[in-house]
Amino acid sequence: MVHGISNCFPETAAQCKPAVYKVVVDLNGEQPVVYLQLTMSDSMPSPSLQPDVGGFAEESHTVLRTCHPKLWQLYTSAREVFWNPANIVLDTDVQHWNTIVTLSEKRAVSRILSFLATADGFVVDTIVGRLFQEVAIMEAKYFYGFQLAMENIHAEAYAKLIARLIPDYNDQQSLVHWSTGLPSIAFKNIWAIKWILEDNRTFAERLVAFVCVEGIFFSPSFAVISKISGSDKMPGLSEINRKVSIDEQFHISFSCAMLRTLEERLPEDTVKDIVREAVDIEIEYVRDLMNVPSPLISIVDLQEYVHFCADQVLSDMGYGVMYGASLPSGLSYP
Ligand SMILES: [Fe+2]
Ligand SMILES: [Fe+2]
Repeated sequence: MVHGISNCFPETAAQCKPAVYKVVVDLNGEQPVVYLQLTMSDSMPSPSLQPDVGGFAEESHTVLRTCHPKLWQLYTSAREVFWNPANIVLDTDVQHWNTIVTLSEKRAVSRILSFLATADGFVVDTIVGRLFQEVAIMEAKYFYGFQLAMENIHAEAYAKLIARLIPDYNDQQSLVHWSTGLPSIAFKNIWAIKWILEDNRTFAERLVAFVCVEGIFFSPSFAVISKISGSDKMPGLSEINRKVSIDEQFHISFSCAMLRTLEERLPEDTVKDIVREAVDIEIEYVRDLMNVPSPLISIVDLQEYVHFCADQVLSDMGYGVMYGASLPSGLSYP
């Protein structure tokens, strides 16, 4: 059995040839001898570990010199925008919530907060933890370790906001539990489990699905909040939304960069099938979200926005676009 393990002590990234360890069994002597034989390979291994490798990390466990400069740069850039939810002031938000936020805006914000407050926990508990355990290269372990912390910060920020806007604990619980019972949100979780957690998926398929979770399942919610808070309402919510959107963009970029380093490149049709499924589920979610018409955003624009997000992630992953959608007027993309 031969396992590819990246060598982490090259002088430059270009010299990052993987060290290949071969388990040799010598039966020539009186007693069988088993040893590891080290050779250098010219081909770059997949940054994921295959299931039979069983969880070895790179040999050095250090980043004295990094082998994947693009991945390392994304990690350090994401780290630069680290933020603390304790520093976000929500007093004006409470005042606005009780005075100038309209009923339809409250309805949309409540539903989105309900989804987002549980979504980050789901991502931490399932997806990122799984990728952290599977991935071999140190730069990715650093990034996913940091991403775990950031997803927790997102969940904390949303929980803090819900607690300030809705003082009664039972009402808070009802709001959060509401999201788990809504079919269009449940489908997102079921779909993510199907594509990311089932053992028969390849690492590339998991990454594509993860890009869809963060790029298609979250972005429309961010856009709606941005639209509502953009008119000088709820500055704390606006700040949280802006910061989380930036973080999520880093997470998407990292998964796309990982995909580009894989030896295994998924066929375009496979990727588009995965993206199309995610889009169909998100369209159901935005229909639920907007089933009471909003004067701020039309359902048509929001559906176009979902298609726009899908085209963006396809392009970021290095594939052709599928919908040819344009950014609807008045909606922003991080
Ligand atoms: Fe998040
Ligand atoms: Fe994320």
